[in-house]
Amino acid sequence: MSQPYRITLLPGDGIGPEIMAVAVAVLQCVAAQEGLQFEFQEALVGGAAIDATGEPLPAATLEQCRQSDAVLLAAIGGYKWDTLPRPQRPETGLLALRAGMELFANLRPATILPQLIDASSLKPEVVAGVDIMVVRELTGGIYFGQPKGIFATETGEKRGVNTMAYTESEIDRIGRVAFETARKRRGKLCSVDKANVLEVSQLWRDRITALASEYPDVELTHLYVDNAAMQLVRWPKQFDTIVTGNLFGDILSDVAAMLTGSIGMLPSASLGASGPGLFEPVHGSAPDIAGQDKANPLAQVLSAAMMLRYGLNQPQAAQRIEQAVLTVLDQGLRTADLAPPGAPVVGCRAMGEALLQALASDAPAQT
Ligand code: IPM
Ligand code: MG
Repeated sequence: MSQPYRITLLPGDGIGPEIMAVAVAVLQCVAAQEGLQFEFQEALVGGAAIDATGEPLPAATLEQCRQSDAVLLAAIGGYKWDTLPRPQRPETGLLALRAGMELFANLRPATILPQLIDASSLKPEVVAGVDIMVVRELTGGIYFGQPKGIFATETGEKRGVNTMAYTESEIDRIGRVAFETARKRRGKLCSVDKANVLEVSQLWRDRITALASEYPDVELTHLYVDNAAMQLVRWPKQFDTIVTGNLFGDILSDVAAMLTGSIGMLPSASLGASGPGLFEPVHGSAPDIAGQDKANPLAQVLSAAMMLRYGLNQPQAAQRIEQAVLTVLDQGLRTADLAPPGAPVVGCRAMGEALLQALASDAPAQT
């Protein structure tokens, strides 16, 4: 039996605790199958942390995350905290967590599963076979640039300011992650910017272009972000790996997610140069359905699989989980977000139980 992995669980708000419970049960099941040990420790973040401590990211949470082997986060935020001053909002806690753990690279895969092709709002021939990886820069750009704030002008009018800034080294390190990622996939990288208007994007394009000489096996293209948004819904199969800054990546990853039919399916991994990674679904806390056993736990479960693959280097355990997800979809099980109108649906807990059964009936993996 290997050393136990120390995993910090951040269930957060809204549907977070329900979907986290499913992911933990699934992880315990594969741990038994693969001879792994997990030491789970919960911590507070987001609205749950605000209610308990007044802060969205208590220092103890950040410290515990830094000391872990990996961090699994569900979702944060909700109406209750939307009107608080910005430093006390749940979202500020998430950004501080990403920055505090130095997680500059966010990998957001969007893959169409044949089982869910009809769940997409686009035509089947447009989305069949889509397999995109969005590599989003996560600790720089306009989310973090200074100056920022709402300032009074001389006339007494208020002026809101954010600053989109990237240094060469910030661009280079995310660029390298993206080229390496593309190299392990189909060897195509599209860099997305707004270099026709923004200086920060011109520097981005210059640096990514310069890096390309180190990766002659990767085919590099560039798109302006408006065109990239259009191309993603026009003909998504032209994309393999996309690299872009924090804000454009936030927006384009939601577009890419929706190609797959439901944002409820998409996991993500946030990685730094070293140290533990943070694994979380792309979707939010869905306060409108929280506590009603309606949430789709699959993005959370697939995030646990990404944790095993990218965070703990346990690809076989990851594959067991991914296979179980395919099995329950093959069985026709659908949560409400995935089901056509009027079709039968299962709840979050039932989906979790079906996953455990699928894992149990899975033959021992080949080594
Ligand atoms: C995401 C989310 C976050 C972001 C919010 C909740 C701060 O939309 O992870 O995509 O903007 O990065
Ligand atoms: Mg987002």
